Amino acid sequence: MQDRPIGVFDSGLGGLTVAKAISMVLPNENMIYFGDTAHLPYGDKSKEAIIQYSTRITEFLVEEKCKIVVIACNSASSNAFEEVVKKAGTKIPVLNVIDPVVDYVAGTESKKIGIIGTKSTIDSNTYHEKIHHKKKGVYVESMATPLLVPMIEEGFIFDDISNAIIRTYLSRREISGIDSLILGCTHYPIIKNQINKYYNFEVDIVDTGKIVAESLRKLLEDNEIANRTSAKSSNKFYVSDLTHYFELISRMFFEEEIKIEKLNLWK
Ligand code: DGL
Repeated sequence: MQDRPIGVFDSGLGGLTVAKAISMVLPNENMIYFGDTAHLPYGDKSKEAIIQYSTRITEFLVEEKCKIVVIACNSASSNAFEEVVKKAGTKIPVLNVIDPVVDYVAGTESKKIGIIGTKSTIDSNTYHEKIHHKKKGVYVESMATPLLVPMIEEGFIFDDISNAIIRTYLSRREISGIDSLILGCTHYPIIKNQINKYYNFEVDIVDTGKIVAESLRKLLEDNEIANRTSAKSSNKFYVSDLTHYFELISRMFFEEEIKIEKLNLWK
């Protein structure tokens, strides 16, 4: 069990921010990454569609003998977590990206938390409910920022277009006066620098990757399935549709030579 890979999935590139953090925190572990680019964005889809995609990917990761499934997508974590847990079965633990972030903010002094994410994540109210359950007396505001995922997937990252879109969203009244901002979509850490600049580095920008990777380390240890050997082979990356930008940005972002294979699970 210890030698088996960790299964990680997202609708596209975003989950690579989590995969990257996992590879830094747990360098001995092998990963199988699935980016469902054919169905991207999940943020605009119905709960039923997100459940259907997420459970099929989970089935694939289980067939590939993954020892754990990491839902590296907030939209799927907030809409399909229970169904993914059911599909994975009792022997394979599932980690979503929301619970570790909620535990993190509950342990801070933050008084006014902002959350940005896709429509499906924000509309699900999952962050609000979980934060209020863990931390009393905190003010939580959220806002859907649906243009950010297509912007990132199209490669608009460090330019005038991305800066204008980021500024327009973050200057809205809905999330004014916050002291921390949860990046409630795994795509957003790719533009974390611009977000930090917008706030003059005065707001704590909570980025999922490292927090989730640390939580994964604990889960592997608690379940006694961490890879104790240094026999790492290599990570595998699959996408349901291979686009030029996915290849380009994933290589730039992951900073390692990665081989991406197209795999249509819905044929
Ligand atoms: N990266 C995903 C998330 O964390 C999904 C983005 C999308 O496909 O809309 O929500």
